Amino acid sequence: MTGRSRTRTAALAALAAGVVLTLSSCAMSLDGDTPQTTLDPQGPKAQTIHNLALPVFIVAGIVFVAVMAGALYVVIRFRAKDDDDFDAFPEQLHGNFKLEIGWTILPAVVLAVIAFFTVSTIFDLARKPDADALTVEVVGQQWWWEYRYDVDGDGEADIITANDLVIPADREISLRIKSNDVIHSWWAPALNGKKDAVPGRIHPLTINAAEPGEYIGQCTEFCGLSHAEMRIKVVALDAADFDAWEQKQLVPFEAPTDEAAKNGFTQFASQCTTCHRITGMTDPTDESGQKLYEYDPVVNQVSGNAPNLTKFMTRTLFAGGKFHLRLETDECKALGEDWAETPEGIEQCLNREDLEAWLRNPPAEKAMYAGDAPSTASRGMPNFNLTEDQIDDLVAFLITLQ
Ligand code: CUA
Repeated sequence: MTGRSRTRTAALAALAAGVVLTLSSCAMSLDGDTPQTTLDPQGPKAQTIHNLALPVFIVAGIVFVAVMAGALYVVIRFRAKDDDDFDAFPEQLHGNFKLEIGWTILPAVVLAVIAFFTVSTIFDLARKPDADALTVEVVGQQWWWEYRYDVDGDGEADIITANDLVIPADREISLRIKSNDVIHSWWAPALNGKKDAVPGRIHPLTINAAEPGEYIGQCTEFCGLSHAEMRIKVVALDAADFDAWEQKQLVPFEAPTDEAAKNGFTQFASQCTTCHRITGMTDPTDESGQKLYEYDPVVNQVSGNAPNLTKFMTRTLFAGGKFHLRLETDECKALGEDWAETPEGIEQCLNREDLEAWLRNPPAEKAMYAGDAPSTASRGMPNFNLTEDQIDDLVAFLITLQ
């Protein structure tokens, strides 16, 4: 092999490797293993973005190929030859007037067309939501998302949940995005673009899932240690299922009767209610009606930084979506948000292992502080050094939250 052909072989090999790498990074398969793809819109808002992005990508692709082909042609056609005089100064030509006018006007026209469609898309996306839109307040927290629903319209949230954003399908959802601490960004790519959650501001975002299903997303603004574990799952239900879900969320809290769950309840009231809240929770009592612990949600709930655990078992995720609460087997997924309604469902589908590990030592499961938690910690769940019996009792209690 001559030196020149060896160089050429090496260049071709590098090119082939580059193409393979590029193609393999294009996770374009839409069979469910790339749930956060931006290329598979599942609602009108995301479709609007897609309708703009795809033609722009094609135009940009054509420009890229044309420019690269031109550059390659010039490089090859006018490359130095062995018999060239390397000391001679190249012949100087004044610019080609027609060409210069052409390559000034053509890009301007292309950009003007793209600008027209971009601006009209922006206005389209910023349009006020439909009158019958469901409003949900979204609160970014380090590191989980809270969702608040004002069902009766009195300005107070009646349903406060976390991790799973449950919505009716085929209806506009007016999200009011806020933050409780630092800047986050809410993004479920299949449903719309992203929107920042900024402290002290309310940012509107309208989403609409055309079909029932689960749509995965992610906090997309770096917000601290566990930013990458601040996940989003939008669960779209058909109208009847959504109504059922809503009614179920509004069923008042009932203290457990089972022995282990009662122990867990007492423990929850004494330790966990500093941060966690259960709407409508009353004081745990013993057989004679004697209060076992004085629970006052206003006094006890001081942090404002922990998920409200009312109807905890109607969620499919916990710890900001880092862990599945409902195991991801086909049978369990088929049970939807009602997976924990029956003892068999809990037996089969509860991710007991991760839930227990979380109660055992949360900071070991999800990074909350670099080093030891400061004594003034108001974010992240601390390690309470619970015994295995206490963990079992707490899980028995959590199971009753449905
Ligand atoms: Cu929240 Cu990143």
